[in-house]
Amino acid sequence: MSPQPAWWKEGVVYQIYPRSFQDSNGDGKGDIPGIISRLDEIAALGVRVIWLSPVYKSPQIDNGYDISDYYSIDPIFGTMEDMDRLISEAKKRNIGIVMDLVINHTSDEHQWFQKSRRREDPYTDYYIWQGLPASSAQSKKNLPNNWTSFFMEDCWEYDDLRGEYYLHLFHKKQPDLNYKNPLVYDEVKNILQFWLDKGIAGFRCDVINVIWKTSLADGKKSIMLTGLEHYKCQEGNHDILQKLRKDVLSNYDCFTVGEAVMINLDDAKLLSNADRQELDMVFYFDHLEVDRRFARFIPKQFSAAQLLHRLTKWQQGLDWNAIYFENHDQTRIVSHYGDDSGAGERDSHWERSAKLLAALQITLRGTPFVYQGQEIGMTNFDFSSFNQIKDIETHNLNRLMKKLCFPAWLRWKWLKLSSRDNTRTPFQWTAGEGAGFSTGQSWLGINANHTKLNYESQKNDADSVLSFYKKMINLRRSSEVLKYGEFKPLLATKKLLIYSRESVQTENSSYKEAASSEAYIIACNFSGKRIKLSGEARVLLQGTLAVSNIGRTQWNTSQTFLEAWEAVVLRV
Ligand code: NOJ
Repeated sequence: MSPQPAWWKEGVVYQIYPRSFQDSNGDGKGDIPGIISRLDEIAALGVRVIWLSPVYKSPQIDNGYDISDYYSIDPIFGTMEDMDRLISEAKKRNIGIVMDLVINHTSDEHQWFQKSRRREDPYTDYYIWQGLPASSAQSKKNLPNNWTSFFMEDCWEYDDLRGEYYLHLFHKKQPDLNYKNPLVYDEVKNILQFWLDKGIAGFRCDVINVIWKTSLADGKKSIMLTGLEHYKCQEGNHDILQKLRKDVLSNYDCFTVGEAVMINLDDAKLLSNADRQELDMVFYFDHLEVDRRFARFIPKQFSAAQLLHRLTKWQQGLDWNAIYFENHDQTRIVSHYGDDSGAGERDSHWERSAKLLAALQITLRGTPFVYQGQEIGMTNFDFSSFNQIKDIETHNLNRLMKKLCFPAWLRWKWLKLSSRDNTRTPFQWTAGEGAGFSTGQSWLGINANHTKLNYESQKNDADSVLSFYKKMINLRRSSEVLKYGEFKPLLATKKLLIYSRESVQTENSSYKEAASSEAYIIACNFSGKRIKLSGEARVLLQGTLAVSNIGRTQWNTSQTFLEAWEAVVLRV
């Protein structure tokens, strides 16, 4: 089926992790005035939307994903006036703001939870409480069920005041809301309305496919997430999403993208296909786990063929995709699927592979989401000791691995590879002290490579990674087929992948005329070695050069090699 055109399908989204983007007051943490001061740089990239990771009031145990008041801004980020100014300043540049909506859980410091602990009505049943006989209350063996949390611990915490356990699928300071209570739905509806009335462009919905717990029975034992079958993508979850769409979202010109955990393609279709009237898009993880086992924690060999296979499944399976390669929970894509050696240096494997990944991402079918720093090719954090890591997930995982007697060197290797702090290091604006991020002590270490890899040095350089992102975003903007055309896999080997974007064969799509004669073929060499093209590949790679990541000025159809980390985008 051909997708219905929509503004949010045509634009690119830029994710900001506010505490690491730009500090304006020297406290070492990024803030909203800092973001406002960088709006011109963001606009220059050619993006249409900014997704802001949470800026609501929060004890910051999970960097804002633990909200204690949905109607105010945390003082570390600024004030509600700052937020209003951000919305209006962004609007002047035709940029919409998307808020992070964290409604599976709140902070335990939220008033609702504090009142629920005291059984104060109407809050008594806002959370998922379970009692146990007092005698067994403190014994681990007698927890209400055997579920395990996303942060690798038990899912239940005993509350002395109430004398019951509460459920937390994440940290114990993030109690889960009880959607079986209609009052909770009403609260959420009000939150959405409040922010949409301020003129925001939509929501990124945190772990949105686990909000409904059908039962609290014991789960099937599993290394990860025992209990998942009782709360992943339940019927009640779909009902809530449909109701929110009908009651609130459909009254505004906005979009939603839901983070959906542990999903397969069928789950994603139910959550996001247009006729379902739930979410507009979902974030899934499959394409980022080609070289990983056990979610993203344990490495295995990468294969371009496997990447193309996974991409194809989702590209062809969903009405519309959210295309992301990085976010605040992942690692840097150039350190992951690329090669970050020579970071900041001209024509290094770092520069080539960062550009190759940009060419790939921006020519896929769906809304591209670029995470702050990705556009300058920022790399994983250069941690040298565990003390530099702040992320609670990494610390919990370390504890668990220690308990399971993993040797220290292996723990370090895997945690360094997977830690969420890899993408949370401060934005590298300049080569100077504090990387132009802050004049104070930054909350998380700054990568030493900022002296060579930074925004300042790339902004006026026509051959920089940043300029390449701009070029790709412009190309997409000007091409109907890159926005809406079909995705077709053409050929893949361990190192090479080739695919095309072609016009959609349908009668009544408004963009058909413009798209009909145009097509693109994209080829990427995922290796640091020049590769010889097979006869079949050479037959496919016919066309005029639209983009090269290595400075080619033309594509010769008798070309027999792709250079190390070379990507070509050909127009046919
Ligand atoms: C997903 C968010 O992206 C992550 O950062 C957070 O820790 C969990 N949800 C819990 O809210």
